Amino acid sequence: MNPIPMVDLELQYRQLENEINPAIADVLAGTRFILGPNVTEFEKEAANFLGVGHALGCASGTDALHLALRAAGIGPGDEVITSPFTFIATAEAIAYCGATPVFVDIDPKSFNIDPSAVRAAVTERTRALLPVHLFGQPADMIELQRIADEHELLVIEDCAQSFGADVGGRQTGSMGLAGCFSFFPSKNLGCYGDGGLITTSDEALFETLWTLRNHGRKAGDYYHEMIGYNSRLDEIQAAILRVKLAHIDRFNKERRRVAHAYGRLLADTELVMPHEDGVGHHVYHQFTLLTPEGRRDELMQALKYERIACAVYYPTPLHRQPAFADLGVHEGLPVSEGVSERCLSLPIYPEMTDEQVERVAACLRSAL
Ligand SMILES: Cc1ncc(COP(=O)(O)O)c(C=O)c1O
Repeated sequence: MNPIPMVDLELQYRQLENEINPAIADVLAGTRFILGPNVTEFEKEAANFLGVGHALGCASGTDALHLALRAAGIGPGDEVITSPFTFIATAEAIAYCGATPVFVDIDPKSFNIDPSAVRAAVTERTRALLPVHLFGQPADMIELQRIADEHELLVIEDCAQSFGADVGGRQTGSMGLAGCFSFFPSKNLGCYGDGGLITTSDEALFETLWTLRNHGRKAGDYYHEMIGYNSRLDEIQAAILRVKLAHIDRFNKERRRVAHAYGRLLADTELVMPHEDGVGHHVYHQFTLLTPEGRRDELMQALKYERIACAVYYPTPLHRQPAFADLGVHEGLPVSEGVSERCLSLPIYPEMTDEQVERVAACLRSAL
């Protein structure tokens, strides 16, 4: 039996190499390696795809979050409400600014922050909401924006896992003040190293971001308006991303095909399938289900025996991470804590065949 990986980047590269290799070769021959024409063109193409005024490439998704929060003026003394059930970068970016992450519980179906928990956590120090569109499923942006409007809060979206997801036709990354994307290789739109993107339609924010990502300077001269960062999207990565952006709709459609096949094949089991709320368009960065209580290890063993990869995203919610021990909130977010104990992510990628999906489902069914 051939192994089934979580994601098959080599297969995707083989399918696109006739487009990707010449794009890389052009960058090498053109020698404009830093903020060259591919970065500029990719930013335009991404802004157009996402329906925003501006898209600005940067070095990673983590930097996208950090720069967006910094540019929005988040700093010491501020509280930013976010999810404890996410990759640590979401909350790290808040801490980098000297602000305090305030973790609120998630909705048990969508795994995204629960608006009622957000509402209850707003204090006089709250400055921003940082929802994550986890696993490719948009957060409840309508309700979150309502809360933000009521309390004059900024909304910054963590779109690292949601390139191409939308809510009623509005792309994630186009609804808040800024959207922060990651191009980590395994993401729905991934490059061949690190890369990130910040989206905004706010002119003033864009100007600050433009300056911050390149050592605090506006133009190519040596005049620095502020202390900034070296956080530029690499030109070779931009060339790769331009090729892949042209295929993103197909990639996401194929991910949904795989997800819906899992849904059909496992519907009548004790596994709880990922939920689609009918408002947001889920792009299945991950296919994450809930296992029956106490049975996750056994199911993982069964998959491993059949050479099928699986993963736990995420085993320890952020409020229980030693890195955030200073916050002193080890308990009290029961949904996140429960989901972390039961969640299991299955292989999902655009090139996955129906036969592979059937093999994964059959393995789980017999183990159950
Ligand atoms: C939800 C989330 N936020 C932020 C990041 C950080 O992105 P990067 O790895 O590009 O820094 C990631 C990805 O790894 C992520 O999944």
